[in-house]
Amino acid sequence: MADLVIRQGTLSDIQAIMALEQGSIEHPWESKAVEALITDPNKTCLIAELDGTIAAYVGAESVLDESNIGNIVTHKDYRGRGIATRLFNALLEELKAQGITKVFLEVEHDNAPAIALYKRSGFADYGYRRDYYGKGKDAVLMSLELC
Ligand SMILES: CC(C)(COP(=O)(O)OP(=O)(O)OC[C@H]1O[C@@H](n2cnc3c(N)ncnc32)[C@H](O)[C@@H]1OP(=O)(O)O)[C@@H](O)C(=O)NCCC(=O)NCCS
Repeated sequence: MADLVIRQGTLSDIQAIMALEQGSIEHPWESKAVEALITDPNKTCLIAELDGTIAAYVGAESVLDESNIGNIVTHKDYRGRGIATRLFNALLEELKAQGITKVFLEVEHDNAPAIALYKRSGFADYGYRRDYYGKGKDAVLMSLELC
């Protein structure tokens, strides 16, 4: 996908990020949380833009040399084209450049597309949290060493 542009999120992306969240996530982030993702120096927000349209975003929060990936969302109309894979790899490169050595995330146990994405990037399971997202909605905990 030659025309996919991956760039840092800016304040003018807040509405588009919120629209992505609202269309795909059961408990979408509020605008303050999205704004912090862009302005807080310990957070990283990357955007994937296709032909001028924001197709996906990813956000992570770092503490010292560890980072937690909070969310990755591809707009429904743009799924299955490898956009999240490109964006996720760009995020891992960015975190590595920032000196991050270990990355964590949680994912709902039956979220097959997300789990496929994370496993392909080398993430491995290290735990399980029952009812983490609500009754019957367990979380798989995953991590990756960046070196
Ligand atoms: C997870 C998500 C970001 C993937 O976005 P995407 O741009 O479609 O991802 P890609 O096209 O790069 O494909 C990712 C992998 O998922 C696989 N996949 C896609 N749909 C699938 C499905 N229904 N079941 C199983 N695997 C699936 C793809 O085949 C690909 O794996 P492969 O290359 O090994 O075949 C997207 O589905 C999404 O936004 N979901 C809603 C938000 C969400 O759940 N985010 C994760 C929260 S932890």
